[in-house]
Amino acid sequence: MTTTKTGTGSQLIDRFGRRIDYLRISVTDRCDLRCVYCMSEDMQFVPRAQLLTLEEVARIGRVFSELGVSKIRITGGEPLTRRNVMEVFRQLGKLDEIKDLTLTTNGSLLKKYAGDLHRAGVNRINISLDTLQEERFSSITRTGKLHRTMSGIDAALNAGFERIKLNAVILKNRNHDEVIDLVEFAHDRGMDISFIEEMPLGVIGDHDRAEAYISSDEILDILSQQHELLPTTDSTGGPARYYRRSDNGARVGFISPHSHNFCDTCNRVRLTAEGRLLLCLGQEHSVDLRRVVRASPTDDAPLREAIITAMDIKPKGHDFDLNSQPVIFRHMNSTGG
Ligand code: GTP
Ligand code: 5AD
Ligand code: SF4
Repeated sequence: MTTTKTGTGSQLIDRFGRRIDYLRISVTDRCDLRCVYCMSEDMQFVPRAQLLTLEEVARIGRVFSELGVSKIRITGGEPLTRRNVMEVFRQLGKLDEIKDLTLTTNGSLLKKYAGDLHRAGVNRINISLDTLQEERFSSITRTGKLHRTMSGIDAALNAGFERIKLNAVILKNRNHDEVIDLVEFAHDRGMDISFIEEMPLGVIGDHDRAEAYISSDEILDILSQQHELLPTTDSTGGPARYYRRSDNGARVGFISPHSHNFCDTCNRVRLTAEGRLLLCLGQEHSVDLRRVVRASPTDDAPLREAIITAMDIKPKGHDFDLNSQPVIFRHMNSTGG
């Protein structure tokens, strides 16, 4: 299995010497699901008029690529709910500097878009799937239908994507008993899977995060009853630590912001749908790039300068604490994961 190589030529270096070669772009904060750990049931979304246009998104992506970013991931909300979103993939897919053009999606609209995404040059897709059980799926996503995500996964496999990764947020007593089944499901279809520890982003009234917490090590213990898992140094350029099964070499990743903090190797920044450049998922430090692109519609120099300068305020890391009220009021959907 291939491993993404990023991090070589970026000109974007922060105060801690970390090279930023990975941009995550949220193209919308809207979503057709309401996952309990991500959103509250009633959400106020950003008015459409305040969003970056798709042209602005593509322009900012291009300028980042000129500064040495080689990996762009499109996220949301659910990115495929944004009207004409394929235009962004087509524009970014043309950039030579971008070696890894990827998408994080809940899969519900992949049946419609998988072929177009592949043709546009998207080379990897991460699909969120927390459970294989229909009723649980409806309860965790509040509004979703499992069969839609399943047919999305099939469509992505049929479209020819090779390195599909499933992302599962694991919640104690809600889906932790399914981790072996999820691994089986992914590996039977040639997909990777990553298990994610929930992060405290935004207040969600009916969901107790401390109670739902289960560490990656506990998940590893459960999986080890079924498979021998060997640690690797593989990287997909993101925060997951990968293990491989000794019987078939298939991969299981762990994204463990609480139990194995990875901030010291952080290589990424995020662009919100409104054009705010967020320097850390778990902090509020940001720069308004929408204002910069609109003030200078044809000359990229101010945008380039704003991006380079923004690196100076990239914080050292997050301060997540599941036992107190979130200090970050943004929900995950407005950040792009
Ligand atoms: P690849 O490595 O490219 O496969 O992707 P990724 O793991 O970077 O991205 P993905 O969209 O699959 O995100 C998986 C989970 O990792 C999500 O819950 C993200 O919020 C989380 N994540 C990604 N980057 C960071 C980060 O910088 N800090 C924290 N705390 N979590 C992150
Ligand atoms: N903590 C951890 N992961 C989250 N996601 C959404 N909200 C949270 C949260 N609070 C995950 C989604 C998706 C990815 C982009 O982020 O399930 O896999
Ligand atoms: Fe939508 Fe993803 Fe948030 Fe679920 S986690 S509500 S699929 S943005």
